[in-house]
Amino acid sequence: MSAEYQVNGAVAVITLANPPVNGLGLATRTAAVAGIRQALADDAVKAIVITGAGKAFSGGADIKEFNSPKALTEPTLHTLINVVEQSTKPVVAAIHSVCMGGGLELALGCNYRVAAPGAQMALPEVKLGILPGAGGTQRLPRVLGLEMALNMIVSGTPVASEKLAGTALFDEVIAPGADLLAAAVAFATKVGDVRPLPKVRERKVDYPNHEAFLQFSRNTVKAMSGPFPAPLKCVDAVAAAVTMKFDEGLKYERELFMQLVQSPESKALRHAFFAERVASKVPDVPADTPVRTIASAAIVGAGTMGGGIAMNFANAGIPVTLLETKQEALDKGLATIRKNYENTVKKGKLTQDKAEQRIALVSGTLAYADIAQADIVIEAVFEELGVKETVFRQLDAVMKPGAILASNTSTLDLDKIAAFTQRPQDVVGTHFFSPANVMKLLEIVRGKETGKDVLATALALSKKLKKTGVVSGVCDGFIGNRMIEQYSRQAGFLLEEGCLPEQVDKAVEKFGFAMGPFRMGDLAGNDIGWAIRKRRYVEKPEVTYSKTADLLCELGRYGQKTGAGWYDYKPGDRKAYASEQVNAMIVQHSADIGVARRKISDQEIVERLVYALVNEGARILEEGIALRASDIDMVYLTGYGFPLFRGGPMFYADTVGLPNVLDTIAGYAKGRHGEAWTPAPLLVKLAGEGKGFNS
Ligand code: 3HC
Ligand code: NAI
Repeated sequence: MSAEYQVNGAVAVITLANPPVNGLGLATRTAAVAGIRQALADDAVKAIVITGAGKAFSGGADIKEFNSPKALTEPTLHTLINVVEQSTKPVVAAIHSVCMGGGLELALGCNYRVAAPGAQMALPEVKLGILPGAGGTQRLPRVLGLEMALNMIVSGTPVASEKLAGTALFDEVIAPGADLLAAAVAFATKVGDVRPLPKVRERKVDYPNHEAFLQFSRNTVKAMSGPFPAPLKCVDAVAAAVTMKFDEGLKYERELFMQLVQSPESKALRHAFFAERVASKVPDVPADTPVRTIASAAIVGAGTMGGGIAMNFANAGIPVTLLETKQEALDKGLATIRKNYENTVKKGKLTQDKAEQRIALVSGTLAYADIAQADIVIEAVFEELGVKETVFRQLDAVMKPGAILASNTSTLDLDKIAAFTQRPQDVVGTHFFSPANVMKLLEIVRGKETGKDVLATALALSKKLKKTGVVSGVCDGFIGNRMIEQYSRQAGFLLEEGCLPEQVDKAVEKFGFAMGPFRMGDLAGNDIGWAIRKRRYVEKPEVTYSKTADLLCELGRYGQKTGAGWYDYKPGDRKAYASEQVNAMIVQHSADIGVARRKISDQEIVERLVYALVNEGARILEEGIALRASDIDMVYLTGYGFPLFRGGPMFYADTVGLPNVLDTIAGYAKGRHGEAWTPAPLLVKLAGEGKGFNS
């Protein structure tokens, strides 16, 4: 059973009990329907209360059932809501904590609703690429009015129950701390004999001149929804609440729901929803692994990354000390943090008071003794093993026992770094992405000796800092940068063979990337990749690269920071203008290496860049560097601007079909630089078995 039945005086109480959030899966629906029928058959029962056990009334339809026949097995959510609405005895929803999606739709099918303050009320289906499909688009406007209901449905944003007190959504919002169930049972007892039973479906939506409002809404939503079809369909469905009879509107809503649930965009969003949650689970680090307390932090290096990382701690209310070797560098780092907060205040995203509170949590020092008591220290100094060695030997000497020693290295061997200390079990990689105070991704690098409690603490910390933590094993570049290396290599070869930066960027941005590789290079600094390549020319001479990026750097064109990169820039303007100098350099380079430039299609550009990611992702998966394909997808969705509506590179490859991906790769393997296209054994295996990375 996943709903419990109890009789309390003359009131039957049905408690949804499907942890963690009382998702309305088949077993819960079946038990709830059985509860209603039992209450109807019992003459001693005058009224019914539906409530939820634990930390939710209900989080809605069970998303895990969407791809299974269970979703359509009777009693469906529609049937459950019908049974509730047709009940001849009054049904009261007792709402607390979370009342979302199908949960809110169920509550709207009840005759009355009593809520605790602080309950999050939402129809968040749009965030999963669908729309409320069990009457939400028809019933919510009938209790909240057209405008407020449309806002909630199109945005999916939760509204606190107390803010909706006084609307027809609630018959009562109880006082803070009062007993919800007792209040709901008292309410049900009071209305036990009241007839006729109020029904939301019988209410009308009155909105003068609704056509103009709906047209305005369509225009606004269309402009904001990008490649996602759901928001506009939400407007269509809500419009039906005004223009159609209730049952017709319900039917129309259903049709739109069925279209959306099959859409690739919705599948991608649902994949991302579960991928984000599963990423924090590590098979040999169970959920009850003890975690260390993180009440204070220190950062070594107050440069680009150190400052941003410190802001994350301050934003989470954790005091943080930055350590530098020179006062000048420290002052510069602290000033940058202050400036960043001031800019956020100017943009209206933070109050002055809050900014000051956060700034007050950040301090600076030149002395290791001042950071010795920190619970975690994150090193963010230059990317050179020698510098890391100096820092970690000092940290090992001064940090209190039990402190976590973390490195923000983006490419170096974490095991070597751990070996500089006498406590490798306390060493972990925390690889933030730039700008560290903005980007959601945190790659958590697990060294061969990293303690399980240290890993569990890093995962818990990522949640506290509002990051998406993804665990990576140790390899050059970890998950994200190791893959981007192959993508960048292809981008370079494309230039040699006939493309110009603008064409490559445009093609990839049309595919949905936030930014193409060359605009990205100009933003991040082309000198960073140059330094990495120089190291690789020595360490891995067998790996081939186009020389175009080196020639660019030799011209001093490091990107926006030098006012020129792959593109030209005007002072104070981030807009990229095609550069005659760079384009001429690229064409000349092709001639110098004897390559006849050809016209390259956008399809080829996208395939070469994206499949380069996929192929390397497959190796990373096979080597166990990533625990699962969906972790790789999360890295790319949250750290590299991969289009969300495509679900990440591995999910995208699954949708294309791995045999198709493999065929295309085989084609490129016959071309120039075919050595870059040796298919990953896992890709070959899965394609042969008719499987996907995620299935
Ligand atoms: N179905 C199934 N599982 C769900 C779920 C749902 N609707 N909502 C959450 N879960 C699961 C999560 O997968 C996670 O599982 P795990 O512990 O195995 O990883 C667990 O519940 C806890 O989730 P969170 O980590 O997100 O917990 P939080 O406390 O941070 O948040 C929440 C809880 C606000 C409910 C959040 O999970 C959420 O936003 N869920 C999605 C709600 C939603 O979109 N509902 C609409 C569903 S679609 C629908 O109802 C269709 C209908 O209109 C026909
Ligand atoms: P940066 O050059 O901006 O800052 C490094 C800072 O460390 C400087 O302020 C320098 O004075 C200080 N420093 C150097 N040696 C020190 C020492 N011994 N003790 C204390 N401070 C010292 O470098 P950035 O970009 O912040 O990179 C730092 C680390 O973060 C590197 O490992 C880099 O690979 C990594 N990283 C960088 C990203 C980026 O986009 N810049 C992204 C992710 C990781």
